[in-house]
Amino acid sequence: MVEIIVAPSYDAMSRVAADVMTTFINEKPHAVIGLATGTTPLGMYQQLISDYTNKLVSFKDVRSYNLDEYCGLAPDHKQSYRYFMQQNLFDHIDIDPRNTFVPDGVNENADAVCDSYEQNIIDAGGIDLQLLGLGHNGHIGFNEPDDVFSPYTHVVNLSDSTIDANSRLFAARSEVPKRAYTMGIGTIMRAREILVIASGPGKASIVRDAFFGPITPRVPASVLQLHQNVTVVLDEEAASLCE
Ligand code: GLP
Repeated sequence: MVEIIVAPSYDAMSRVAADVMTTFINEKPHAVIGLATGTTPLGMYQQLISDYTNKLVSFKDVRSYNLDEYCGLAPDHKQSYRYFMQQNLFDHIDIDPRNTFVPDGVNENADAVCDSYEQNIIDAGGIDLQLLGLGHNGHIGFNEPDDVFSPYTHVVNLSDSTIDANSRLFAARSEVPKRAYTMGIGTIMRAREILVIASGPGKASIVRDAFFGPITPRVPASVLQLHQNVTVVLDEEAASLCE
């Protein structure tokens, strides 16, 4: 079941999404949380840091698993998702660094990276709450439009549109890695609860296609319609094409 909440602004969307997560963690301090990168969660992460600073939530027993990582980027590379998480969340809250997991971008044994990441999530008891942003083409994590839904953590070739979209964060388009590790659609769908956030007019048509269109691997996020517990938090611009 998909519940859609429309907030009046990006800041309000971020606050609502942070509330979903802090309420969850306060009820289950040992929660296993799936985290996302991108521009959209930045406001929510600011809110989580402020809630932590104001002693409204503690992450000390939380375990986190990020959705994805670029192949070939080291943790200290400024565009790696590990670096993003440290800068924008982990370094500012009380989460135990040993309990934060991001696929290892530098291990060249891709099968080992994927198998151990998937097994690590299973050993942790599975993901309780998974945060997702939406790519413009409907990708979640780095699961690009495809003919099938992928079951497990795997390596993907990034689409030209994703490389274009993410090149804004790199010095040049040629520096954007062509491949990435990502949890599979199956990995994401096995989370007990899913929280999706999207903002801005550029996401309006993919929000409509993902949650009101046919369920197809050509729009990876559309599979979320089959999940039993999804909350989508949008600002008014991202919600503007929903009937
Ligand atoms: C990247 C990430 C996704 C993210 C998407 C949208 O490709 N791998 O996890 O959801 O971008 O990013 P943004 O929030 O910047 O629009």
